[in-house]
Amino acid sequence: MTSKYLLLLCLFSIAFSEVNGHFLFGPSPDILPAEDVSDECKQMAKEGICEYWNCFIDRWRCSGSHNFQEKSAKRYCENLRQNYAKFDDEGKRFVNESIKCLMRKFLPKYNADTNQCFALEQFGEKEHPKCNLNYGFCTAVKTNAISAMRHAYGASDTLQLFKTLSLCVKQGIIVSVWELLVKIVPGLSNFMQLPHQSR
Ligand SMILES: *[C@@H]1O[C@H](CO)[C@@H](O)[C@H](O)[C@H]1NC(C)=O
Repeated sequence: MTSKYLLLLCLFSIAFSEVNGHFLFGPSPDILPAEDVSDECKQMAKEGICEYWNCFIDRWRCSGSHNFQEKSAKRYCENLRQNYAKFDDEGKRFVNESIKCLMRKFLPKYNADTNQCFALEQFGEKEHPKCNLNYGFCTAVKTNAISAMRHAYGASDTLQLFKTLSLCVKQGIIVSVWELLVKIVPGLSNFMQLPHQSR
């Protein structure tokens, strides 16, 4: 039980600290675009086509450690698209709209003349839970969409899900972050029990 609360405490402090500990590494430098803006890519953002994130990644080359667009946005889009058929109607709408929402939010960044990789990451971490919230994550997660979500999300989405579920609780749509978090993230409950089992 103790480890469960420790993990929750950790997630909580990471989720709600604006700095995320990155202040230790100093300011992130401005970067310049490596590719021109493409109308085709902008159209993909409007239609919610995952390929848009490849356009973004090609134009804005960020290293692995601060690459929200590669590590989170692209993977998120592809995982949800791959599992689209598993969602009910409400869930399908959530998939389409939350994918488009995140792309729309990043469009001014895509078009920009300069960016900062760390700022992009912070922006993504802030906007992603809001897109989830605004397009029905909290209600979708209460229905059978949860089994589809279990396929679409992985352990590396834990923090993102935790933030989103916390917003759902704040809005009074669900009552418990933990209960849903362990239902969605594969292996999270096993992971939590591991120390007890191995003793
Ligand atoms: C979701 O998007 C797909 C592909 O663009 C489309 O075929 C489908 O009708 C959309 N579904 C909903 C519920 O909006």
